[in-house]
Amino acid sequence: MQTPKENVQVLISAAEIAARVSALAHDIAAKLPPDVMVVSLLRGSFVFTADLIRALHTCASPHPMRPQVDFMTLASYHKGTVSSGTIQVVRDLTEDVTGRDVLIVDDILESGRTLTYARDLVVSRKAKSVQIAVLLEKPGHRKVEIAADFVGFIIPDKFVVGYGLDYANYYRELPYVGVIAEG
Ligand code: IMP
Ligand code: MG
Repeated sequence: MQTPKENVQVLISAAEIAARVSALAHDIAAKLPPDVMVVSLLRGSFVFTADLIRALHTCASPHPMRPQVDFMTLASYHKGTVSSGTIQVVRDLTEDVTGRDVLIVDDILESGRTLTYARDLVVSRKAKSVQIAVLLEKPGHRKVEIAADFVGFIIPDKFVVGYGLDYANYYRELPYVGVIAEG
């Protein structure tokens, strides 16, 4: 039996991701204070977040970073590859973000609805500042005007999987970002 991952063509290799995550961590360390509160949006960003916080650990300049991490699950896709358009909080933060410098981390910025919802929620809870880091940005689908402060890769208009991103909750384990081959 063929395993699903044999259908996936590599778009961004594990080595390319690692190099970019390291560069992003340096950008983040240069712009954010050491005691940043990382808000990771589940489920898609758990792999990126795990690598990003360890990359932050290696950034001693301009100051050692000591991030705290919390998770929030927002759902915008019920199934398949088409957005439902509405956002639901499936699991809320457990930490209080009041007065904190928050870095929201997500896997991909597409319509912008998920990140807009997350940012507005964190702002409404009176965070001191809110910045956004995404691994991927897919242009051409924006439904809401929002920009990420830190972007790993701008990708073509294709549905991608791997490195935490899923199709029907599969493929998250792939160490690279890829495209499911047609046919
Ligand atoms: P947005 O709210 O439309 O910006 O969508 C953001 C969410 O949609 C992401 O956090 C992903 O979970 C999902 N998503 C968007 N595009 C893709 C894709 O190409 N592959 C996998 N998930 C995607
Ligand atoms: Mg997601």
